[in-house]
Amino acid sequence: MKVTIYGSGYVGLVTGACLAEVGNEVLCVDIDPDKIERLQRGEIPIYEPGLERMVEENSRAGRLRFTLDPAEGVAHGLFQFIAVGTPPDEDGSADLQHVLAVAGAIGEQLQEYRIVVNKSTVPVGTADRVRERIGQALAGRGVQVEFDVVSNPEFLKEGAAINDFMRPDRIVVGTDNPRTAELLRALYAPFNRNHDRLLAMDIRSAELTKYAANAILATKISFMNELSNLAERLGADIEQVRVGIGSDPRIGYQFIYPGAGYGGSCFPKDVKALERTARDCGYHAELLGAVENVNERQKQVPFTKLQQHFGDLGGRTIALWGLAFKPNTDDMREASSRVLMEALWAAGARVRAYDPVAMEECGRLYGERGDLVLCDSAMAAVDGADALVVITEWKEFRSPDFFQIRDSLNEPVLVDGRNIYDPAQMATMGYTYYSIGRGP
Ligand code: UGA
Repeated sequence: MKVTIYGSGYVGLVTGACLAEVGNEVLCVDIDPDKIERLQRGEIPIYEPGLERMVEENSRAGRLRFTLDPAEGVAHGLFQFIAVGTPPDEDGSADLQHVLAVAGAIGEQLQEYRIVVNKSTVPVGTADRVRERIGQALAGRGVQVEFDVVSNPEFLKEGAAINDFMRPDRIVVGTDNPRTAELLRALYAPFNRNHDRLLAMDIRSAELTKYAANAILATKISFMNELSNLAERLGADIEQVRVGIGSDPRIGYQFIYPGAGYGGSCFPKDVKALERTARDCGYHAELLGAVENVNERQKQVPFTKLQQHFGDLGGRTIALWGLAFKPNTDDMREASSRVLMEALWAAGARVRAYDPVAMEECGRLYGERGDLVLCDSAMAAVDGADALVVITEWKEFRSPDFFQIRDSLNEPVLVDGRNIYDPAQMATMGYTYYSIGRGP
């Protein structure tokens, strides 16, 4: 089948590569000439395990191509996927200008029946606006062409996106036309084997499902972070509480890990956007606001622990392990590491940072500055520092040489923002160890 995908960012590229991998002819359209040129050369703009190989092989086989030309895009695919970004506006709502610009471009070029598929995370009602924008462009041209608009949200996790796409838990298809649902069923057939995972529903429900999924996961995390602060004050251990409640299958073990707050391009943006959507229809969504506030506060916890230990942090040097918002990505959007670094700098401290893949991204975000040293290894970061803070739970941080770290630090102070170490072991080795929800 022929598929066109607008937007060669995270979602667009993964969708394009995976659809090409199973034999479809995919054309990716983007407005950024630099990005298209790099993709044509086989260079991937993001870090995602497995993606580079997939793009390279499918490009070589001629199943995956890249273009700047929307006219070529509209002519190519029966399926027209919109996978452009929806960054937050100043007021927290999702900015739809890129989505609507693609809709306009489709309307300008449409010659025969097309299925326009919204894959970007977009507020409820966006499919109607996309339909309207295409309709306006057609009316402007004085032509009538049949088309459908479908909501097909994605549930990919960064760092595991290929696997999530190839083996989805569910494929949500929001449409008001049963024939369109069947065409999408055919497109997704290679990913929908053994038992039926395709859930056809009405468009607005599909749009809301995406926000509901992210918001409930964010809620679980904020709930646990709230409880971790309470556990500290009550002398309880949140890790024991976590296992105690996770064993109830109604609660489950996943997404109840307390930590230094959630980050990334999705949870913070989507929780805010859903709250905003609620406000726009006259409903005050109390829980969503609280989830967001608890998260903002939680991102400050590692800094507060350092401050409580050292008092004034001016002139101190803090080693930081982990910059990405989570392991297996170089993405630092809304990362807790940024809140910590910025608080440390404001307090006059220096940072020696190390991350297995996000160093370049950190350099790009903050540039050269005297109070940030980007180190070549985890051990180099602790060298001569006053304390070590672990903020992202990369595998390589799980079992480091604690003796060497202790000897490299001026003072054996360790703030574990993800509870990856054992407090008893840390105490035996002479560390002053702070973690989340387990003691002061
Ligand atoms: C999230 C969802 O998990 C995906 O299902 C969804 O498709 C995606 O957003 C999206 O909307 O595009 P992602 O942002 O890649 O995926 O990352 P997650 O693995 O969900 O982690 C988000 C944040 O929560 C990270 O900062 C992580 O450290 C934090 N987290 C996660 C916790 O603090 N505790 C947990 O128990 C789990």
